[in-house]
Amino acid sequence: MIDIHTHLIPNIDDGSQDYGDSLRQLKKMAEGGIKSVYLTSHYFRGHYQYTREEYNRHFDQLSAQVVQAGINLKLIPGFEVFLQPDILTDIKKHSLTMGDSAYVLIESDLNGLPDDFYNNIYPLLRAGYKPILAHAERYVSIMRKPDQTESLSKRNVYIQTNAGSLLGAYGEKVKQTAWKLVNMGWTHFVASDDHVRGEYKAFFEARDAVEEAIDNHAAHLLFHVYPSLIAKNESIPYQYVHIYRPHHYRRRSWLKRLFA
Ligand SMILES: [Fe+2]
Repeated sequence: MIDIHTHLIPNIDDGSQDYGDSLRQLKKMAEGGIKSVYLTSHYFRGHYQYTREEYNRHFDQLSAQVVQAGINLKLIPGFEVFLQPDILTDIKKHSLTMGDSAYVLIESDLNGLPDDFYNNIYPLLRAGYKPILAHAERYVSIMRKPDQTESLSKRNVYIQTNAGSLLGAYGEKVKQTAWKLVNMGWTHFVASDDHVRGEYKAFFEARDAVEEAIDNHAAHLLFHVYPSLIAKNESIPYQYVHIYRPHHYRRRSWLKRLFA
């Protein structure tokens, strides 16, 4: 499994404030079977603004501590970029991408979509980046019309859902929206968005919940297969749903589903 959205670099945003706390979360991740994690600190011009060198310094320090502690987990640099006019300049200048890929994790004002699409996301697409909209289910416009995410996908904007949203951590409406995205195949990634405000467990609970509600294959796509394509800088065509269908998978007959 791969968690593509976390705030575990200490003292750079509103996430972790302590190396010990971050190490504890990272240890939990490794114990639960996570192999790689993206450390996606907020980049928000005027609020959480830093150079790539500053980020790298923190990243290297945490990486060294992970090795020293014997935690078997691959750390990958990343950012959660707040959409603002001309944010493309900052993305290019500081390489605010997911690892070395063209993927960029983005967020907006929760009331900001759809205007932000035309003003701020479209220039990223034109420049060849692959935007991933963080916690799409939390946007007011998407709660009203969840099928907007399907339209975004068709325009090569990928969709990420928070594990906590599926468990009800942000309220009932967000939860309903998150499940709609998962059930309709409108989301590509489930990630923790962990800010070290409690024990690291929502990611694992959400995986169990998706497996329980749909099947192991769907959980595998959202928590492993699609996230693994970021490091390869591969695009995510819908066909993966079929390509990665395990050979032992058999659809339950309507009769069995009726009496399940
Ligand atoms: Fe986040």
